[in-house]
Amino acid sequence: MRVLSGIQPTGNLHLGNYLGAIRNWVRMQDEVGAQGGDCLYFLADLHAISMPHVPAELTANTRAMAAAVVACGIDTDRSILFNQARVPAHAELQWLLNGTARIGWLNRMTQFKDKSGKNREGASAALYTYPVLQAADVLIYQTTHVPVGEDQKQHLELARDIAQKFNNDFASEDAPVFTLPEPIIPPGAARIMSLRDGSAKMSKSDPSDMSRINLTDDADTMMQKVKKARTDPEALPSEPAGLEGRAEARNLVGIYATLADMTVADVLRDFGGQGFGSFKPALGELLVDRLAPINARYVALKDDAAALDAILEKGAQKARTLAKPTLDATYDALGLCR
Ligand code: TYM
Repeated sequence: MRVLSGIQPTGNLHLGNYLGAIRNWVRMQDEVGAQGGDCLYFLADLHAISMPHVPAELTANTRAMAAAVVACGIDTDRSILFNQARVPAHAELQWLLNGTARIGWLNRMTQFKDKSGKNREGASAALYTYPVLQAADVLIYQTTHVPVGEDQKQHLELARDIAQKFNNDFASEDAPVFTLPEPIIPPGAARIMSLRDGSAKMSKSDPSDMSRINLTDDADTMMQKVKKARTDPEALPSEPAGLEGRAEARNLVGIYATLADMTVADVLRDFGGQGFGSFKPALGELLVDRLAPINARYVALKDDAAALDAILEKGAQKARTLAKPTLDATYDALGLCR
C-alpha cells in the first residue's frame, strides 16, 4: 500500500479538514506503517498559487500548516511530510500529463466553476489545470490510496482517467506506467458543513470566521462559535430519520458523532428530545476536549521556522527519490530524448 494526500497551505486547518481528511491520514499512518507501506503527506503550495496570494503569507502559511499537521499526529519519522515546491517532479509530471488530460474533462470540474465564479475569463490558467497537477501529485508515487473529503472525489476520478488513458496510449498492458488510485472517504465526515449555513461546506475561503472551527481557536472561541451556530427551534429527534430536511441539526449531530466515535443513532439516543440549549454546550465541550491537545502541540511548534523547514526538507529528500523512477518512465514512454 502507498498512501498519499495533500492540503493547501492557505489559512488555518479547520474542523472539516481534520475530520474529513487529516484524522484518516493519522489512522492510515498507523495501519499502513504496520504493514510496511509508505505514507506521503504534503502541503500543496504549488496549488495555492492558482488563486491571488501574498508571497510572504504563503511562506508563513506553509510552515504553519506543517506545524498543524504534525500537531494532529503525523509522525515525520514514520510518514513522509514535505511541501510540493521542494519536489519539482510534481510540476514536471504535470506538464507531461497535460498531453493526456482532455479539455472536455477539465471543463467538467466543479471546483473550477466554484472558484472562478462569474469571472471565468479572469481566472488563472493554473486554476484551470489544477486537477492535472493533483493527478501528477498522486500518480508520481504509484499511490494506491488517497484519504480525502468528498469534495476531492471528482479530482481523483480525473487522476484515474488520466492514468488509464496514458497507460492505454503509451504503455503495454502488462507494464503500465501508472497505478490507478482509490479515494478513501470517511463515511461519517465526508462533508462537514458551515456553522452558519448547513448547505455550504465548511471552508477556509468562507469570509465569516464564525462559519468554521479552526484548530488554532482557543477553547472560549470554539465554545462561542458552537453556541452561535445556526440551528432551528425544534428539539433533537430520537432517530436519524428525524434529521431529514434539518441540515444544520444534522451537521452538528454528525460532528458530535464523528468526534466521539459514535453513530448518529447513538448520539440521538442520548440527546433525542433535548433542545440545542443543552446539546450545544455538550458539543462545545467535546470539541474542546478533542482539539485542545492538538492546539497545545501546534502552539509549541509553530514559531520554530528552522525546525519546520528541516522537517519539510527531510521529507522532500525521500519524496524526490521515490518520484524519480515514475518520472523517468513517463519521459521514456512519451519518446522524449534526455
Ligand atoms: P484542501 O486544502 O481544500 O482540503 C484538504 C482536505 O480536507 C478535506 N476537506 C473537507 N472534508 C470534509 N468536510 C469539509 N468541509 C472539508 N473541507 C476540506 C478535503 O477534501 C481534503 O481532503 N486539492 C486539494 C489538495 C490536494 C490533494 C492532492 C489532495 C492537492 N493535491 C493530491 C489529495 C491528493 C485541496 O485543495 O484540499
